[in-house]
Amino acid sequence: MTNHTPNSLTDINGDAEYYETVGIHQKLKHKFIELYLTIWVENVGKRSKKSPPTVDFFDLFAASGWAYDKPTDDTWEGSALLAAKAFGEYPNGRRLFLNSYDDNSEKCKSQMEILQKSVKELDDCPHVFEKTRFVSADIFEATDLALRGLNRNFPSLWILDPYHPDQLPWKLVEKIGSTVGQSYTDKNSGKSVCKRPELIINLMTSILQRNIDRKPELFSNAVGMSVDQWRPIYNKYKQKWIDLGNDQNTRHVILDVYAERLSQLYKHPPIIAEVNAAEGGVVYTMLLVTDSDAGYHMMMKKMAEWRDYKIYKWKPEAEVSTFKKRNPDQSDLKKWF
Ligand SMILES: C[S@@+](CC[C@H](N)C(=O)[O-])C[C@H]1O[C@@H](n2cnc3c(N)ncnc32)[C@H](O)[C@@H]1O
Repeated sequence: MTNHTPNSLTDINGDAEYYETVGIHQKLKHKFIELYLTIWVENVGKRSKKSPPTVDFFDLFAASGWAYDKPTDDTWEGSALLAAKAFGEYPNGRRLFLNSYDDNSEKCKSQMEILQKSVKELDDCPHVFEKTRFVSADIFEATDLALRGLNRNFPSLWILDPYHPDQLPWKLVEKIGSTVGQSYTDKNSGKSVCKRPELIINLMTSILQRNIDRKPELFSNAVGMSVDQWRPIYNKYKQKWIDLGNDQNTRHVILDVYAERLSQLYKHPPIIAEVNAAEGGVVYTMLLVTDSDAGYHMMMKKMAEWRDYKIYKWKPEAEVSTFKKRNPDQSDLKKWF
């Protein structure tokens, strides 16, 4: 995507207090989101022979639109601004829906102000602000509002990036993923199909892992099943990993169960990218689910790029765990991004 960054951050708001304060490794999360948005812009939008389909983008955890890493004093665009930029470049964007909410009313207000100003000031994209619906509502209400505005017979992409698994219960994922358009005959396969929202989900696997025995109801909420319902499925996958020689398998098993749930709605399995903290452990996992054959295969190809990115950018960072012991402020991380 080309650069439509607002002139400078201090023009928007010099105070980074309300940006998402995250570890620098979270750039990988934003890279994953950007890769899929780029497919929309480049492959669907610009290479279509005829007029490309309209698209709706939804970011239900939009925050301020900016991410900030305090130790390195580095600032970059979060999911909402990445979505706004892609929407601006896509030739036929219909609606951008950004929900920015926080229980803390002061934080909520400030995040929204920064977000609105940042979208308004996107270079060369005045139409984005006009086509954006800004909402500030708890995720349950926001989901209902978003679904009410969805053009269900056309493609849509939903970014679901909560802080905690509690904020993304399965019933919301299922509600969005089950909202389909009218069926039609696909001209390539001859099969009856319908448009289904495409989802990018941030699954907070490390929190789920830590709580799988202590607070199993967290996972129940995330997969929409009682402990008695998911435990046998969980044990089935656990055995699979043990048979494969992997005893440290809680994250893998969680992902298997979650992927199985998603595959009850979507025909393709989710594309998964794990994001490590500087210390090396996987913090969360990004998942993309789509019924679009082209989108799925293009993202699979792009994942090679992501892997390169991960290896190229991440490997040195993995080495930082040693480095960090001597340099707790991690100031040298900056050079890798
Ligand atoms: C991980 S952050 C989102 C970061 C953002 N997607 C980005 O890439 O910059 C999660 C956001 O969800 C918001 N949030 C917390 N509880 C929420 C709730 N119940 N409903 C909706 N949003 C909530 C938080 O204020 C925070 O802005």
